[in-house]
Amino acid sequence: MHSMQTWEAITSRRNVRSYSDRPVSAGQLDQILEAGRRSPSSRNSQPWDFVLVTDRQQLQELSQVWVGAGHIAGSAATIALITAGEEQRRTGFDLGQVTMSIMLAAADLGIGSCHAGVGDQDACRRLLGLPADRSCAFLISLGYPADRPLAPIARPDRRPFDEIVHRGHW
Ligand SMILES: Cc1cc2nc3c(=O)[nH]c(=O)nc-3n(C[C@H](O)[C@H](O)[C@H](O)COP(=O)(O)O)c2cc1C
Repeated sequence: MHSMQTWEAITSRRNVRSYSDRPVSAGQLDQILEAGRRSPSSRNSQPWDFVLVTDRQQLQELSQVWVGAGHIAGSAATIALITAGEEQRRTGFDLGQVTMSIMLAAADLGIGSCHAGVGDQDACRRLLGLPADRSCAFLISLGYPADRPLAPIARPDRRPFDEIVHRGHW
């Protein structure tokens, strides 16, 4: 099985929106979900549940809940991040940490991932059979990249290091 060091996973992760037919095994998916489960949260509140979707028809329907979610249709699997009630600031932070843990665990296996928001919350709730007091905060699609394997990105599309890093004072 392909395996990366942490730094390699961090520098290789990118949003992958086009996936190959190569299957992602149930064991790999469980490992990625376990990375999410282990994420830290404020007061260890763990304000999340995960719905794993692998059915092609369901993935296609899920891809329509947001204008920027089309890539979900071709994913090998998608994890819906479910949270309770109103999304509060702390919850948003916690869900962000879960998302990154999931994405890095996927990258470690050479598996690409992509975020998608949810526009039509009612449709999403219906598709996933969520209770009325739960909503879907985010969708994370997974699959091996169709274009090229994940590999360290030498020059990422980011603001320059010296512009964003301040030492001691602004
Ligand atoms: C909070 C958040 C929401 C995002 N929503 C979407 C989305 O709905 N659809 C999408 O294709 N990408 C989405 N993205 C992916 C970003 O566009 C992407 O991370 C950014 O352009 C940097 O690209 P990279 O991850 O490949 O480095 C989202 C990212 C974040 C952090």
